[in-house]
Amino acid sequence: TATTELPHRAPVVTIMGHVDHGKTSLLDYIRKTKVAAKEAGGITQHVGAFEAQTSKGRIVFIDTPGHEAFTTIRARGANVADIAIIVIAADDSLMPQTREAIAHAQAAKVPMIVAINKIDLAQADPDRVKTDLTQLNLVPEEYGGDLVVVPVSARSGEGIEDLLEYIILTAEIEDLRADPKGEFAGVIIEGKVDKQAGVLATVMVQQGTLNLGDFLVVGEKYGKVKAMTDTNGGRIKSAGPSTPVQVLGFSEVPDSGEKVVAAKNEHAAREIVQARASDRRDVENARVRSRLTLEEMMGSLGSVRTVNLILRADTQGSVEAIQGILARKESDDVKINVMFAGIGAPSEADVLLASTAEATILCFSVTAAGGVKKIADSKGVDIKSYRIIYELIDEVDRLIKGTSE
Ligand code: GTP
Ligand code: NA
Ligand code: MG
Repeated sequence: TATTELPHRAPVVTIMGHVDHGKTSLLDYIRKTKVAAKEAGGITQHVGAFEAQTSKGRIVFIDTPGHEAFTTIRARGANVADIAIIVIAADDSLMPQTREAIAHAQAAKVPMIVAINKIDLAQADPDRVKTDLTQLNLVPEEYGGDLVVVPVSARSGEGIEDLLEYIILTAEIEDLRADPKGEFAGVIIEGKVDKQAGVLATVMVQQGTLNLGDFLVVGEKYGKVKAMTDTNGGRIKSAGPSTPVQVLGFSEVPDSGEKVVAAKNEHAAREIVQARASDRRDVENARVRSRLTLEEMMGSLGSVRTVNLILRADTQGSVEAIQGILARKESDDVKINVMFAGIGAPSEADVLLASTAEATILCFSVTAAGGVKKIADSKGVDIKSYRIIYELIDEVDRLIKGTSE
């Protein structure tokens, strides 16, 4: 078919793993040695992605390490990464966030490469890491499985050339292609406000070519590409597939993971936005109608149980990721009603709401202040705090089954 004749594109790689296992150090090492120095004359030096030119080809790394960014982007339905590198420190082996990172990569069906880092340390025990992986049914190649495991040191640089080579090999197997002449499609990697420049967004071009002057639509907002820089800060006029670029021209900060499309002119951009707004209102109305029907059914049958929850988490990404998981836990018998979801520690108002609605307050990576805890105790409201997502999900399962103590 025609698609097989499209030109190849560079792989987009995300780095995930447990805290302090060396994700940033690894990227720093690669960046130092593999990013061709270009003249910086652009908007800013700091972007959430960078390109590495290796002897075997171009690789794009997303420099927002951690599975949270990965999950946020995925929660919006965009699979921006082609390959996931799971970094595991050789002196620490598998830790809770390593397991989460692996689970995220598996859920996204993204091929995984394990980098066993810190092999320069005297305490390093790469064999233990491999054995531990085997217990998760991830069998390294040398044990007869198909998991690529590369021992590396971000300190000495040992093994990093091999890692880059495996990335290129994996990309070849994946046969990644895109049409630079096709319709433009991209994803927001991150957005921010720069004091001098204004709203800046890092956009990953996935298909087609992005040009200076193009109109871009993100959700229900649009903007014009007024200036564009590559990841070294150099001004550019166009960018093809698998290119992260920083774009100046949005009026509001777009969210990570949002899809970006292009429009011919401002009029066309506005039409897309208006059509989307009207679609959204239709969906919302339909949702309200279906909720009423569900409530009527519950009233007549009395068999549908509702688990009322208030959700609190450290970032918007976590909130959205958890809401996504909760939505999938609903069934014909149990309805999960997230009465409120917010960023930051639970408040007194949350406790009062929970008290009237008999809701449980679930916290991820945030905890209630002493005063709030006291009010909760006096009102008999449960505040449950977790740092590991699986434990939070286990609690939800108990609430669903009605077995939470
Ligand atoms: P978070 O972003 O906080 O999750 O951590 P990270 O995974 O990005 O780890 P980071 O790169 O910040 O490294 C954590 C610590 O490990 C730092 O003190 C690094 O210097 C050290 N470190 C990273 N890689 C290596 C390595 O290969 N060898 C040794 N000896 N130390 C390393
Ligand atoms: Na760190
Ligand atoms: Mg880091």
